[in-house]
Amino acid sequence: MSDFYNTDLPSIFKNEFALGFEFLPKELLFRDNEMQEITSVIKPLLQDRPGVNLFIYGKPGLGKTAVVRFLLKKLEEADLELEPFVLYINCWKNNTSYKLALEIAHALSFYSVQNKSGSEVLQAVVELLNKKPVVIVLDEVDKLEDFEALYYLLEDVFKKSVIAIANDKSWVVRLEPRLRSRLQPQELEFKPYNKQQVHGILKQRLDLGFIPNAWDLTAFERVVDKTFASGDIRVGLFLMRQAGLIAEYRNANKVLLQDVEKAIGKLASFSVNPEEILDDDEKLILSIVTAQPQRIGDLYKVYKEKNGSLSYKSFQRKILKLSKGKFLHLERVHKGGTTTLVSKGLKQGLQRFIDS
Ligand SMILES: Nc1ncnc2c1ncn2[C@@H]1O[C@H](COP(=O)(O)OP(=O)(O)O)[C@@H](O)[C@H]1O
Ligand SMILES: [Mg+2]
Repeated sequence: MSDFYNTDLPSIFKNEFALGFEFLPKELLFRDNEMQEITSVIKPLLQDRPGVNLFIYGKPGLGKTAVVRFLLKKLEEADLELEPFVLYINCWKNNTSYKLALEIAHALSFYSVQNKSGSEVLQAVVELLNKKPVVIVLDEVDKLEDFEALYYLLEDVFKKSVIAIANDKSWVVRLEPRLRSRLQPQELEFKPYNKQQVHGILKQRLDLGFIPNAWDLTAFERVVDKTFASGDIRVGLFLMRQAGLIAEYRNANKVLLQDVEKAIGKLASFSVNPEEILDDDEKLILSIVTAQPQRIGDLYKVYKEKNGSLSYKSFQRKILKLSKGKFLHLERVHKGGTTTLVSKGLKQGLQRFIDS
C-alpha cells in the first residue's frame, strides 16, 4: 500500500516538457537561411537605421514561431550598444486592437491604462515605442480581427521592423491597400522539411525528452513517417509523448511499435488548431457566420463583399462540408420557398484549447 504514490519509480522520460509544442530547444536545425534572412531585416535597426518589415508564411508546424522566438531571445541576450524594444505578440490570444494595445503596454511595463480607450492606450504606447528602435513580431497575424493597432504601429512608430507571421500567403494580399503599402514587407516562405530533416528534429527532441535507449528503432521510424506525411512537427512531438505515456502505463522501459500504433489512434483527438485544417475560403466563411442563424443567400452576399471568390454552387458545397465537420449548424426552413439557415456550430469553441 505504502508505495501507491511512490514517485521514485524510474521514468523513461528525462524531461517530458521537452516534448511540449512551446518548448524551445537550444539549437534549431535546418533553418539557417531563414534565420539569416530574418536577422538581415532587424540588423539595420540596430545601427539606428530604418528597419525593414517582413512577412513570414508557411504551413503549421514548420518552425516559424520557434525560429523567430529563438532569434528574439538571441537579440535580447546580445550585448548591443543600441538595445531595441523586443515585442512578441500572439494575435490569436490578442485578436483585437484593444487587447493588442494592452499587451504592448504590459510588455513595456506601462500600467496606467485604466479608463483609457484602445486608441488612447495605443497613443501612449506609440510614444513610448518611439524612444528606441523596436522589433515587433505579430505571430498568427491572420487572427487579428481589426487593424487599428496595426495602423498605429505602421504609421506612428518610426524605427521599427514589423515581422508578421501567418500560415497563408494570402493574408497580405487581402490587406487593405492602404495598410499593405505601409507594410510593404519582404516575404519569406517556410517550406516543408524533407524526411531526413524531420528525422533530425524529432531525434533531437527524443534525446532531450527521454532517457537513453528508451526507444525501439522501428517505433521511432514509424513516428518519423507519420510526421513527415503530415508535414507538421507537432504531430511527431504528440506521438512521442503519447507513446511514452502508453509504454509507461504498461510498466515497460522501452517504447515499442505497438505503443506508437496506439498513440496514432489518438491522433484524431490531437488538438491542433481546428482552423489550421481549413482553407482560406472556409476560414472566411467561418468568420462571417454568427450564432444567429442567417439565410445562406444573405451569407453569400456578405462573403462576396469580403472578396470571397467562390461561385454560389461551390459556396453551398463548402457550407455543407463545414456542417459535416460540425463547424456550422444548418437548418432547412420553408417560408414561401425553401432556404437554409446557417449558424455557428460546436467546434468553434475548440479554439480556446489551441496554443501553438
Ligand atoms: N528546425 C527546427 N528545429 C527544432 N525544432 C523545430 C524546428 N522546426 C520546428 N520545430 C519544433 O516543432 C514545433 C512546431 O514548431 P512551430 O514553430 O510552433 O511551428 P509554426 O509556428 O510554423 O506552426 C515546435 O515545438 C518547434 O520547437
Ligand atoms: Mg506558430
